[in-house]
Parts: sequence; C-alpha cells; structure tokens
Amino acid sequence: MRGATITGTGRYVPERVLSNADLERMVDTSDEWIVERTGIRERRVAAPEQASSDLALIASQRALEMAGVAASDIDQIILATTTPDRILPSCACTLQQKLGATGAAAYDMFAACTGFVFGLGIARGLIIGGVADTVLVVGVEVLTRIVDFNDRNTAVLFGDAAGAAVLQPCADGEGLLAVDMHSDGELGEVLEVPAGISRNPASEATVKAREHYIRMQGKKLFPFAVRSMEDSTRKVIAQAGWTADQIDLCIPHQANLRIIDAVRERLGMPEDRMVVNIERYGNTSSASIPVALDEVVRAGRLKPGDRLGMCAFGGGATWGAAAVSWTRARVEPGISDETGGTVAIAGSAEPERLA
Ligand SMILES: CC(C)(COP(=O)(O)OP(=O)(O)OC[C@H]1O[C@@H](n2cnc3c(N)ncnc32)[C@H](O)[C@@H]1OP(=O)(O)O)[C@@H](O)C(=O)NCCC(=O)NCCS
Repeated sequence: MRGATITGTGRYVPERVLSNADLERMVDTSDEWIVERTGIRERRVAAPEQASSDLALIASQRALEMAGVAASDIDQIILATTTPDRILPSCACTLQQKLGATGAAAYDMFAACTGFVFGLGIARGLIIGGVADTVLVVGVEVLTRIVDFNDRNTAVLFGDAAGAAVLQPCADGEGLLAVDMHSDGELGEVLEVPAGISRNPASEATVKAREHYIRMQGKKLFPFAVRSMEDSTRKVIAQAGWTADQIDLCIPHQANLRIIDAVRERLGMPEDRMVVNIERYGNTSSASIPVALDEVVRAGRLKPGDRLGMCAFGGGATWGAAAVSWTRARVEPGISDETGGTVAIAGSAEPERLA
C-alpha cells in the first residue's frame, strides 16, 4: 500500500481589486453591511483578456515548480471550476495544452465550491490505486463573469482566483489520510445559474431576464453550510484517528466569515488554527481552499507531521472534507511568493462589461 500526498502548491490572483467602496457605487450596499455580514473587504477581478485557464496556468506552474515536477510528468489533470473558458472543450484540456502536459488525461469537475476537495478525493484514489503517479488538482474561477452586478445579494460575495496542488505517492499512513465527499441534488435551486446550457439554452430572452448569472438563496444556504462542514470535518478527523483539538490548522471554504466562525466554534477550535483570507478575496468557490493552502505553505505555517483539515460546501449541493498528515517541508528559498500584486485601483473598478 502507498499513500498520496501534496508535494507542491501554487496560487494566482488577478491584479485588479474590487473594493467594497467600489461596490457601493454599483449597487445599494455599504462597506459596513458587507464587512459585518460577510467579513469581505475586497475581491479580485480578472482582466478582460483573462479566462479561467489563464489563471489556472500560473497557479499550476507555481505548484509544479514547488514540487519539482515537469509538466510532461503529469498523468492526470483534474480541474474544478464553475466557470470554464468554454463549455467545450473542457478548461482542463485548454490548461493541458498551455502547460504542455502532453501525457496527461485532463477533465473538468463541476462540484462548485467543493470541487477542490472532491478533486483531492479522486486524485488520492488514483494514486493509492496505482492508476496515476502524478496528479495536478486545480481550483479556478472567474466568477465575476457570471455575477450579476445589479444584484446586491450576490454582487458583493464573489471573486476570481486560481489555486493548484500536485499530488504524488508517499508512505502509507502519511499525506491525505481521509477525504469525505457528499451531494444532495434536492438543494439544487438554492444556488444556480438558470440558463445557458441544455435546460434553458441561451437566447435573447434568457439574457434579458439575466438568467445567465448566479442566483442564490443565501439564507437557506447558511445553516446547511455550517452543518455540512462541521459534520464532514468530524468524519475525516475520526477516520484519521484524530480528535478535533489535535488539528493544527483547518482551511475552510471561504464563503462567509460568520459561517467559518460558526464551524470553528462547533468544532471547539481556537481562532488561530482556522485559516481566514476572505477579507482579501471574497468567495472564490473552488479556488478558495487551494489559494489559502498555498498561502499557509509559503508562509511556513505547516511543518511535516502537522495535522491539516480542509472542508467545503457549495452549489449542487455538495460538501466534503479532507484530513492531511502534512509531509512536505517548508518551501525552499527561491520559490516566488508573488501573487500578482495588490495595488488597489482608484475610482470605479467594475469590469468592462458593466460600464
Ligand atoms: C448572503 C448572506 C451574506 C446574507 O446575509 P444575511 O445576514 O443572511 O442577510 P439577509 O439575507 O437576511 O438579508 C438581510 C437584509 O439585508 C439586505 N441585503 C442583502 N444583501 C445586501 C447587501 N449586499 N447590502 C445591503 N443589504 C443587503 C437584504 O435585502 C435584507 O433586507 P430586508 O431585511 O429589508 O429584506 C448570508 O445569508 C450568507 O452568506 N449565506 C450563505 C451564502 C453562501 O455561502 N453562498 C455561497 C455558497 S458556496
């Protein structure tokens, strides 16, 4: 038996910052409301020429560099997204071509915000089962292209980013010890993009009705989010043979600071063990966990033997968690920690199409 572990991580966030003050000029909202109800202060917006594969490329190259792996060595690329460049071909195939990962099978995973955790679960199975030796798992979103900037319920929440992880074999009993994965299609309408594909193909009418944008029933999602992340985290902790107070670091999906705090309190974890970066990026769906993971790895916050938890919930509905006995040493000197800059844009920073 062999295990599967994370040998490299990478992230990329676009340069353009959309602050709460910018949003105040676009919809009926306030910085005070957004910070108090969500914890978000700003989020990133991809440049007009950037699509998901462009963000994914940089995050993936950084993860491969850290792992010391050539693109030609990748066996499989699992790309989790809700916003592929196009619906055909898959975003994973576009990424494969850009990376030059000619030996890799590449495919997209649609599991909304839980996509990265599901990707870890599949990659772990592929590696432990001997099907693959090197798997690249990517979470990437350009959500600002499917956010309705006329709808204050959703406009303030989402942002663009990419995160990636390289998974490879390790000794049995190390690395990814457990991954828990669930779905409940009964909750499908709580978070949806109503039109654009086979149920309701794009037409003048669907565009006029703004049905190609995200619609969300936030109040219904909130309690589900807290319950599902707590339950799933407890499951993987038990499967790993740990107790909640033994977790060194937990990376929750960054959807709402109040959701994160509620999960943390239910699990009885101190604040400094829960990773939070939502104030800078908002909800970046499948990218949120790998971006936060790369931040803590490059900051040296994980050392070999540390117990790491990750948990997520999202549209579908989907939810899941992972328990990792960290195996990788602190990032070697010389690996860039560049994220693409943090310069705020003065004045209106809304995307081009909103002008
Ligand atoms: C969306 C969310 C932040 C709303 O927070 P909330 O405390 O539940 O707020 P409510 O929906 O009860 O709305 C309270 C009031 O604020 C208003 N409001 C909603 N968005 C607002 C905004 N951006 N600015 C100002 N007011 C806003 C509502 O219209 C409502 O007004 P009303 O009382 O006059 O009807 C919260 O429910 C949430 O985070 N839910 C989970 C969503 C999620 O995680 N989605 C991603 C899944 S991966």
